[in-house]
Amino acid sequence: MPAPTTAPSASVPASAVPQPGLPTARTSSTGNLPGRRGDHAPAAGAGQGSQTDLAIRTHDLTKQFRSGQVAVSKVNIEVPRGAVYGFLGPNGSGKTTTIRMLLGLVGPSDGYAELLGERMPTASATVLPRVGALVEGPAFHPYLSGRANLERLDAADGTTRRSTRKARIDAALARLGLGAAAAKPYRQYSLGMKQRLGLAAALLRPRDLLILDEPTNGLDPQGTREVRHLVRELADAGTTVLVSSHLLTEIEQVCTHIGIMSRGNLVLQGPRETVTEAHETVVVVTTSPDHRGSAVEVLTGLGLTAPEVAGTTITAALGDVPPERVSVALVHAGVDLLGLEVHRPSLESVFVRLTGEGFDVAR
Ligand SMILES: Nc1ncnc2c1ncn2[C@@H]1O[C@H](COP(=O)(O)OP(=O)(O)O)[C@@H](O)[C@H]1O
Ligand SMILES: [Mg+2]
Repeated sequence: MPAPTTAPSASVPASAVPQPGLPTARTSSTGNLPGRRGDHAPAAGAGQGSQTDLAIRTHDLTKQFRSGQVAVSKVNIEVPRGAVYGFLGPNGSGKTTTIRMLLGLVGPSDGYAELLGERMPTASATVLPRVGALVEGPAFHPYLSGRANLERLDAADGTTRRSTRKARIDAALARLGLGAAAAKPYRQYSLGMKQRLGLAAALLRPRDLLILDEPTNGLDPQGTREVRHLVRELADAGTTVLVSSHLLTEIEQVCTHIGIMSRGNLVLQGPRETVTEAHETVVVVTTSPDHRGSAVEVLTGLGLTAPEVAGTTITAALGDVPPERVSVALVHAGVDLLGLEVHRPSLESVFVRLTGEGFDVAR
């Protein structure tokens, strides 16, 4: 892993704890995570504030390059401890730049980032040993073997124990399926093997937080599955993971939380199960032909906007109305209720809409 460069810190008061204010996301993205480590989070009102529930938090994080381009614009990321946060967006949407700011590799033009409750890059020395990162590959030596490269990196990390080095390197190599290739020089590695070695380097010691920038790049479908499996395994053991990808399908299934970048903006963020709810969930009611009028009246009366009639089905955006209220109201009004379905948009369709047609959702 490259040594973090020192970066100027933004002069924003640490006391400011704004909500991200995303138009489409639920605000309760820091809630407990079933089956994860929500139970480890400190109780609300324990005197430390809610910030400590977050492994990653950014406030209006912004990067404007010298060219004038704003690559990242006022991004407010919230990654609860124990989460697997899928950081998604098309190529060029600002993911890597954000991740580089998180790690203190580049300074923000405005705003700030906190890792594990500590301000970056000020806290780099204490926080980064607890953070494993894969970002555009660590600086590997082309003529050294994979194993020798890991030995160098581990030796350069002043906080690791030499006596456990061999065992930790063996374990990391085995975990990434690099045992057989360990003695090969790095320059003979395929892109997929290089990615694996980068992951092995991030896992040379136990970490509280892993930040992986497109870890499935260059991997075949089997390798991609292995990375997903690894992420799940690490999360189950209590590691918080932020994993970026421009391919939704590659990581979607392991994520507990989702953040979507588009043109430098974080356009959607929240728990995976609920993140799409605010997006045009519709109810489709089937009734008999002569009950269509009264059904439309009931739906409108509940506050559902613009019901559309097609044959004997009526489709309306559900908004905040619970579907069971719709069925109760229809039955109550004496409407023949032949069917009622709730259609939630797929994450994929929300992505495409939010990020434009350029978003590659194919495998
Ligand atoms: N060092 C740099 N100097 C100028 N522009 C950059 C630099 N790094 C990235 N960019 C630009 O910032 C935008 C976001 O890039 P990046 O963060 O790499 O996106 P992603 O990781 O989502 O593909 C792109 O338009 C890219 O060209
Ligand atoms: Mg990138």
